This record gives sequence, structure tokens and C-alpha cells, in this order.
Amino acid sequence: MIVYASRTGNVRYVTQTLHLPNIEMNEVQQLTTPFLLFTYTDGLGDIPVLVERFMKQHYKLCRGVIVSGNSNFGHQVFGQAGDKLAALYNIPLVCKLDLRGTAKDYAAIQAFYYEHIQEGQHEAVFEIK
Ligand SMILES: Cc1cc2nc3c(=O)[nH]c(=O)nc-3n(C[C@H](O)[C@H](O)[C@H](O)COP(=O)(O)O)c2cc1C
Repeated sequence: MIVYASRTGNVRYVTQTLHLPNIEMNEVQQLTTPFLLFTYTDGLGDIPVLVERFMKQHYKLCRGVIVSGNSNFGHQVFGQAGDKLAALYNIPLVCKLDLRGTAKDYAAIQAFYYEHIQEGQHEAVFEIK
């Protein structure tokens, strides 16, 4: 499962392009299987507040982070929410996308997903509000 947060639609667009099981963060009620986090970057290289809150609760099941940013913000803070989450929770930064990213990014995400997430996961066990 990919759990994603999207404010202006880029992350949502990419997630829906990947053809992988996914759920929007604010719809997750209970989480019992490993997941991949997909977030945007806020402020100046900040982790979105809702993502911070979610991860405090669910970090143990998180197997990696994908981040979208905008490289126009400059190298220092481009996609930095992903770097921060990877460091905070000691998880791999799977991919950093510039806005909606590229086909190469999508392939890298799918490869990681099939190797680390789908294995052993038989069905979604979410309860959706
Ligand atoms: C208020 C605001 C602050 C942002 N700050 C950053 C930033 O510091 N670094 C970065 O790489 N992108 C930054 N972005 C760009 C977004 O992370 C990027 O557009 C992302 O694709 C948004 O994903 P979403 O459309 O799914 O919400 C910012 C965007 C907004 C609106």
C-alpha cells in the first residue's frame, strides 16, 4: 500500500499513474501492513504537518518515503521533506520527484514497491471511513 498526502494534486496524479494499491492519508483509519509513504514538500523544505502527525503514529510500518518537490525552490530545500523523514525514521528515500516526475521515477518506485512492500501482503486491511 502507498499512503499519500497531496495538496495541489501532483502526488495524487503520480500515485494514480503507478497502478499500485494506494490510499489518501486522511482516509486511513487503521493500518496494519507495511506501507510506502508519498508526500509533497511544504514551507521551506518542511514535512507537511499532517504527514508529521501521521508518521508519529505509524512510522513502525513505514518501509520508505517518496517525495515530490519543486526544484525551483533551490537545491538546499528541493524535496527536503523526504530527506528529513528518511533521517528521522531511518527509512530509505526511494525517490525524489520534481513536481510529477518522470517515467524513470515511476519505474524506480514500482521496482521498490514490488521488492519491499507487496511481498507477503495479500490484501488491503484498511478500514475506510
Ligand atoms: C507553500 C508551498 C511551499 C513549498 N515548499 C517547497 C519546498 O520547500 N521545497 C520543494 O521542493 N517544494 C516545495 N513546494 C512544492 C511542492 O512540494 C510541489 O509542488 C509538490 O509537487 C506538491 O505536491 P501536491 O501537488 O501533491 O500537493 C512548495 C509548495 C507550496 C505550495
